[in-house]
Amino acid sequence: MKINTIKTQAYNDQEPGTSGLRKKVPVFQQSHYLENFVQSVFAIADDITGQTMILGGDGRYYNKQAIQIILKMAAANGVAKMIVGQHGLLSTPAASALIRKHQAVGGLILSASHNPGGPNADFGIKFNISNGGPAPTSFTEPVFKFSQTISEYKIVDTDDIDLSSTGQHTMGDMVIDIIDPVDTYAELMAQLFDFNRIRSMFESGFSMRFDAMHAITGPYAIEILENQLGAESGTVMNGKPLEDFGGGHPDPNLVHAHDLVTALSGNSQHDFGAASDGDGDRNMILGKNFFVTPSDSLAVMAANAHLLPGYKNGLSGVARSMPTSAAVDRVADQLGIKCYETPTGWKFFGNLLDASKITLCGEESFGTGSDHVREKDGLWAVLFWLNLIAVKQQSVEQIVKDHWARFGRNYYCRHDYEAINSQIADELMSRLRDSLVSLKGQTFGDYSIENCDDFCYTDPVDNSISENQGIRLLFTDGSRIIYRLSGTGTEGATLRVYIEKYEADVARQNEDTQQALNALITIADTVASIKKLTGRETPDVIT
Ligand code: G1P
Ligand code: ZN
Repeated sequence: MKINTIKTQAYNDQEPGTSGLRKKVPVFQQSHYLENFVQSVFAIADDITGQTMILGGDGRYYNKQAIQIILKMAAANGVAKMIVGQHGLLSTPAASALIRKHQAVGGLILSASHNPGGPNADFGIKFNISNGGPAPTSFTEPVFKFSQTISEYKIVDTDDIDLSSTGQHTMGDMVIDIIDPVDTYAELMAQLFDFNRIRSMFESGFSMRFDAMHAITGPYAIEILENQLGAESGTVMNGKPLEDFGGGHPDPNLVHAHDLVTALSGNSQHDFGAASDGDGDRNMILGKNFFVTPSDSLAVMAANAHLLPGYKNGLSGVARSMPTSAAVDRVADQLGIKCYETPTGWKFFGNLLDASKITLCGEESFGTGSDHVREKDGLWAVLFWLNLIAVKQQSVEQIVKDHWARFGRNYYCRHDYEAINSQIADELMSRLRDSLVSLKGQTFGDYSIENCDDFCYTDPVDNSISENQGIRLLFTDGSRIIYRLSGTGTEGATLRVYIEKYEADVARQNEDTQQALNALITIADTVASIKKLTGRETPDVIT
């Protein structure tokens, strides 16, 4: 089979963000744009020759075309075997599981996660390394550098492969193995959780709704929840993956997963609700008329993991991203295990998991996971909660309220100001940075700033240093305000403001979150002049 070497012009904007390279579809459709990036990845992952790789995506618009291009480039670059999900589909956690199972050198995952899909919406590509996790900065930086001077790429000249049925094909010297995207993942879940117990719970009338948001988890949830665990048919809502996610925004939060929120509201006949995002790594957990913040979810999981088969020996440690609430810190304290605070982004958990320093980890952005893969995992979190409810025989609300009574409650919310002018966003952040010295010791009403900084993380495993990871205002009573700019947006800048307050008194743990955080929300604006600089009166999304 003929390998062509194609001349190309470098692009200067192929810098991977928090989670891979994300751009609008028309950007990816520019001449050789995708090819340049893929060749840059292959160049830096220089040990791919003769190796196995994993390939799949969340099914969004351009997924199919991209898969064909990548297969032809992989064959031209000496990959021995490419394992591909049928129809080109793989959830992010399933891809991670497959990399680990097949000892692949890495995998390419096509997704822009929770961002909308369609001809004018978002596309993305991410490289995961041999541990199954997102490539670290020490890999993505050289990729970006390479992409800025690339002048040619390699591709075989051949027809597209039919991805509609499982089985083996060859492309030149490369074997293409098209596999069922769900099997390996479902087997892994059955090892971690007590499927019999969950099945009995469904048999005795327990009812739930899972919103797949027309994204990748539809087939996974139908197989595991309905077929294997016996949840009633119709449990999975919006279960068919669509290229544009049905026009929706596949982000499992109270704003975007509105079908699910409605199903669990009022006089709902359901006991439990959950949703996942575009590529299946996020989760939202709901009880009847009750929302579990992701930070609380992580803390509840950490406190109860020993009750579930996969974690019966306890946890080696836990980790949370810096802006995630400190609820899990209190659990770690009581368990006598370490809690690590990492920058935003799953890639920072990889080293800690590989070194067995942690078993569970999570982020406030609806991401939780464990050492079973090296990605956050949406359905895994749902199964964890189901197993926990089956063991405790309590409602979601009761489980969380008992947790607060025992550990205290961390009131928590995040305010997002989306698509603001990038220059203004940079100015806001640099003004904050400049005022750090003078802010220390200042008092605003009942709150005094004990410390403030621009978060800097030293990885305890490889000692790598990540600077400028977000401005932190740490108050004397344990309250915190954090400011950072998103690294995943594709339009202007997104300012994220995270606000948290600790409440130990059970009698004061049932306030409305925005109400409880009201004074701190005002302080967040005063300190950063958000309204004045951005001209925005209110955040676009509150989670
Ligand atoms: C966001 C979340 C972050 C998550 C990432 C990928 O990144 O905040 O926690 O790891 O998406 O899902 P951000 O846009 O804030 O950089
Ligand atoms: Zn995602």
